[in-house]
Amino acid sequence: MNNLMIEVPEMEAKRIFEVEKIRADFPILQREVNGKPLVYLDNAATTQKPQTVIDNMIHYYTFENANIHRGLHFLSELATESYEKARLKVKEHINAMSVAEIIFVRGATEAINLIATSFCRGGFYKAGDEIIVTQMEHHANIVPWQILSQKKDIKLRVIPINEKGEIIFEEFEKLISDKTKLVSVVHTSNALGTINPVYDIVRVAHKHNIPVLLDGAQAIVHNKIDVQKLDCDFYVFSGHKLYGPTGIGVLYGKAHILNSMPPYQGGGDMIRTVCFEGSTFDDLPHKFEAGTPNIVGGIGLGAAIDYLNQFDFEDISRHEKELLNYATQKLQEIPGLKIIGTAENKASVLSFTIKDIHPYDIGTIIDTHGIAIRTGHHCTQPTMKYFNVPATARASFAIYNTKQEVDKLFAGLLKVKKMFG
Ligand code: ALA
Repeated sequence: MNNLMIEVPEMEAKRIFEVEKIRADFPILQREVNGKPLVYLDNAATTQKPQTVIDNMIHYYTFENANIHRGLHFLSELATESYEKARLKVKEHINAMSVAEIIFVRGATEAINLIATSFCRGGFYKAGDEIIVTQMEHHANIVPWQILSQKKDIKLRVIPINEKGEIIFEEFEKLISDKTKLVSVVHTSNALGTINPVYDIVRVAHKHNIPVLLDGAQAIVHNKIDVQKLDCDFYVFSGHKLYGPTGIGVLYGKAHILNSMPPYQGGGDMIRTVCFEGSTFDDLPHKFEAGTPNIVGGIGLGAAIDYLNQFDFEDISRHEKELLNYATQKLQEIPGLKIIGTAENKASVLSFTIKDIHPYDIGTIIDTHGIAIRTGHHCTQPTMKYFNVPATARASFAIYNTKQEVDKLFAGLLKVKKMFG
């Protein structure tokens, strides 16, 4: 190379977004249910897994299995390296500052419980303090704070929503006071699909020096998350909603806050020294990971991130948005069908009711046609209460869904209508 040539870093070419080829990556999509090809539209509950995630997990158990951070033997070092590589992939995927800020947990639920427990133990709250949540929270972002409140007399203040299922932002600002200790809100609602204005929420909360926790369980799969850009103090999500395995999730926290928090659980791997008079704890992230972790889960999550990174996230978002728009338009042709959650800014989640037909009946009948949707309150009973319904039926779309599958859902729902006259 002569001096005049500029070295251009090699850009990794992104894979072309071809849904049929993507479908072929997910073995379960080839199976039949009730004698019909599976139409899997329950992705907000859990996504299916690409072969590469399954293969990586089998590879680990076949060739690398050992406990991590504990032995100097070959396999232990290999397993440790694979697990820590997965942590690095998560760090890069969400653009955290360092791997110390990535705590592996069981899922988003455990991440919120960890924060609540540690805050309580650390004496971060006093009686009368308040935590702001929204009307559309998942139970996982309500109940841990209520358990905490039984010990500390903490109050939950709730940002109201409008009939579209959007938060009323002015009301949020009014709820903030010198009693507010945390703003803990869902990024994308699992029941309504609403994408909350999290940049503005963080900005306003930080103006008052209040930390913000974002529950990203639904958001992480639809959008590229950059925790530094968001500037949130905590971001939590589950691996199984990101095409990874169950039983593994992530708590991201800013290092200085995590450092100030006492451990969640005690045991092996999180200590530096132990004697009967007392113990000292390891540095981040290990301080929060007591006991043998879900090693294969971490590796599977890393493989899921690699899988997703083949694509341009904008292609994924565009595809899912197209499916959402198509399904919204199509389903509205069904007489008596009402969509619950019509926010302007929405992820590919479509909750609905059909006049007088119980959502459980809808779900059960279309299941006989091989179509999987979720019915129920979606662990969001306060949201259901606001909309005055006991439950909804919910179709949620992922990278591998197609318009033909939406057509099958539409046809299935027409059959439900017919059965109920
Ligand atoms: N929280 C998950 C859902 O929305 C299980 O279905």
